Amino acid sequence: MFSFFKSKSDSDKEESKKLSKPKGHVFVCTTEREEGTHPCGSCAGRGGIDILNEFIFEINERNLFDEIVISGMDCAGPCSLGPNILVYPGGVMYSQVQKSDVKKIIENHLLDSNAEKYIQNDKSISELIYWVTGKKL
Ligand code: FES
Repeated sequence: MFSFFKSKSDSDKEESKKLSKPKGHVFVCTTEREEGTHPCGSCAGRGGIDILNEFIFEINERNLFDEIVISGMDCAGPCSLGPNILVYPGGVMYSQVQKSDVKKIIENHLLDSNAEKYIQNDKSISELIYWVTGKKL
């Protein structure tokens, strides 16, 4: 039978065993707009790039680059509430993120297995955000 997929060589199989599946992914909005060009401003204008750098610093400090991926992203929508970040697992949007929230998000959302109980129930996402950051929606 014809197959588009090549069978993996032994070295490919070994290589894929070494690659770990990330435990989480954080997207930080780094959209930048010149002041006065958009009624809602931008996440970068409110410190989004500092938030991205803080995540990179904290992930590096914990040697977690194999487990947690950090990416910049373009505008996610709620610009006036920025800086906004989107965190997986769960696809949870955190708004008005401050540098002091970064450690809490890493420790409570990404590393604490108790977060799964919130993430498995979408109705509890606001509870998760409150539990992680102490901020009510
Ligand atoms: S600029 Fe960040 S959500 Fe729009």
